[in-house]
Amino acid sequence: MTPSGARASSILFLTGAGVSADSGIPTFRGAGGLWEGRRVEEVATPRAWRADPALVWRFYQERRAALRRHEPNAAHRAICNFERRASVAGHAVRLVTQNVDDLHERAGSRPLHMHGELARLRCEACARIVLDLEHVDPERFVPCSACGAARLRPDVVWFGELPYFLDEIERELDTCTVLVSIGTSGIVHPAAGFLAMARASGARTIVNSLDEPENLAAEDDFRPGRAIDVVPALLDELARELGC
Ligand code: OAD
Repeated sequence: MTPSGARASSILFLTGAGVSADSGIPTFRGAGGLWEGRRVEEVATPRAWRADPALVWRFYQERRAALRRHEPNAAHRAICNFERRASVAGHAVRLVTQNVDDLHERAGSRPLHMHGELARLRCEACARIVLDLEHVDPERFVPCSACGAARLRPDVVWFGELPYFLDEIERELDTCTVLVSIGTSGIVHPAAGFLAMARASGARTIVNSLDEPENLAAEDDFRPGRAIDVVPALLDELARELGC
């Protein structure tokens, strides 16, 4: 129960590249997307890192260097604002993102980054993780200051690797009463299965995206459009419904 006596809800957000598109960060698929004209196997797999670390490093260093040129947008801010209002009103809110940028954090949220973070580097030899957005030269590896290994890798999840926080996310999917999915094409698993899992748990599902995601179903409440145009009003509406 909430302090006002209403039934407490559990709201789970899932965001993808579309939420950051209006901040100027390219999405992966479609025209102008990061994967256009590039095979993911060349830069986003453990095999690519072993075969050509310089190429992979350059790709991620360019994205790491670009982070500071982007600012959170109205959708990131609306999510954070909603989290605060809903929490104060006694509802549970969790944010899961597939994005490796830090725009949710810079808007004030604390997301679970299931695909890792550009701001973190990891040592494959000793498992040390460092927060680092200082060393972004595409031509220079960053050695591990703990064990001396020649190069840290980006702490992002590559194809063929297991996403982070899956147990925790599964628990959230089991118990959420509302799932709000924003800006994801619904193609990459396991995240592409989250809508179906939430539906199966009886949750109401709300979806915002520019194009219809692959995993959209008739029972989803689809709100097409740009996240900056759709999400603030959508979350105001949801907050009113939840009495917060
Ligand atoms: P995609 O590039 O596959 O899809 C982006 C989605 O955002 C599409 O559905 C677009 O219609 C939508 N979109 C674009 N601009 C938008 C806007 N302004 N407002 C709202 N929606 C918008 O990106 P993801 O689904 O996030 O994984 O990609 C999932 C994963 O595939 C990524 O995390 C990454 C990638 O390969 C790894 O690298 C492991």
